[in-house]
Amino acid sequence: ADTPRINPSILAADFVNMQAELARIATADFVHVDVMDNHFVPNLTFGPQMVERIQATSPVPLDVHLMIDDPDRWAPGYAEIGAASVTFHLEAATEPVALARRLRAIGARAGVAVKPGTDVESLFEVLDEFDQILVMTVEPGFGGQGFMADMMPKLARLSAETRRRGSQVWLQVDGGISGSTIAQAAEAGADTFVAGSAVFGAEDPAQAINALRSQAAH
Ligand code: DX5
Ligand code: ZN
Repeated sequence: ADTPRINPSILAADFVNMQAELARIATADFVHVDVMDNHFVPNLTFGPQMVERIQATSPVPLDVHLMIDDPDRWAPGYAEIGAASVTFHLEAATEPVALARRLRAIGARAGVAVKPGTDVESLFEVLDEFDQILVMTVEPGFGGQGFMADMMPKLARLSAETRRRGSQVWLQVDGGISGSTIAQAAEAGADTFVAGSAVFGAEDPAQAINALRSQAAH
């Protein structure tokens, strides 16, 4: 398998020192950028103007996670900014396949996310339209929440299906990922790990990224 990917979430960063915060995670695989609209989730972060500046400043490519209503309307704009990947929520999309195709046509990796209450079987028929699938391990909206270990069977079912098909799709987890939870998620089949507080809350983020990578590899 590939080296596990570690994507620090800037939701846990200092928003008024974003350039310095991005420099602290230069050894990460991607920077995870949480866009929230206060409708799809009960929290608000930032939109395309901020993401465009992050794109211009970040030493690592952007992994944009859209926790917003109407991604059909907004998601392509993030691909146009130059984000490496754009992930929208299945629960919010009207035409997920058409949207995935638009994202790929612009040149981004297309991602789809599911909340804890959404099953993954509904994704099986559209799997090939996506480059990455995000299984939420908390209710989306806030950093620093506890890891939902009860999502592991769902992740394992998705992983079994992708392996059965020989699919190259990346399986991502987001929420409560730390040194004490990452191994379970890796065991269940995840290869891409979002970590907010575990990276930005650490004394040395680069060391935290290294430690998470090696814990995910075992
Ligand atoms: C939550 C966000 C996450 C969040 C994770 O809705 O999607 O990306 O930043 O934060 P931690 O790693 O602290 O749970
Ligand atoms: Zn996220």
